[in-house]
Amino acid sequence: MELKLPQLPYPKNAFVPYISSETMEFHYEKHHQAYLTKFNELIRGTPFEEMSLIDIILCSSGPLFHNPAQHWNHTFFWDCLRPAGGSAPSQKIVDLLSESFGGVEEFKVKFTQAALANFGSGWTWLVHNEDGSLEIMNTANADSPLRHEKYPLLTLDVWEHAYYIDYRNSRQDFIDAFWHLANWEFAEANHSMNKSQWAGPPSEAKRPPSSRLPH
Ligand SMILES: [Fe+2]
Repeated sequence: MELKLPQLPYPKNAFVPYISSETMEFHYEKHHQAYLTKFNELIRGTPFEEMSLIDIILCSSGPLFHNPAQHWNHTFFWDCLRPAGGSAPSQKIVDLLSESFGGVEEFKVKFTQAALANFGSGWTWLVHNEDGSLEIMNTANADSPLRHEKYPLLTLDVWEHAYYIDYRNSRQDFIDAFWHLANWEFAEANHSMNKSQWAGPPSEAKRPPSSRLPH
């Protein structure tokens, strides 16, 4: 079964001036598509075709891990962005961030520091543990929090391909832009998700219902 790119819930110019249409075009149609194309090639005619995306991510290594994990990570990332200035954190999110980081602004500072310190290519995540407590986590390359028994609420792609067209080598500027786009409704919906709830059919990267946002 061929996996297809998830449809973006917004047009590619939805994040101008923070993320250009050109970046969205390359990031989604070239980079994300390339991971998916490679993954489809790798699993064609193998028992992996019958496995869920999450199960493959949890049990594989090498290209058979990198490509599906990058597909999952990007699918998740697209939902972490919301047009028209993102969405304001709800009181529940404000309380959660205050408990773990001392406040929303304090969280943003810590997340930004982590994203800047994430050496090379990778992802910076806001995750929750089994007990619901929040944490900021860096992963390298394609690595996923799901492999570490941590469940994502929000992520930022800090691979250079995510920002080089718009910000050249300035990851800081890209992170600053992200705070104008963060989708807190999506983050909140993810707080109730655990590993078994993320698991889904191989035809899709599982996303909570709130990802179907109006646009
Ligand atoms: Fe990316």
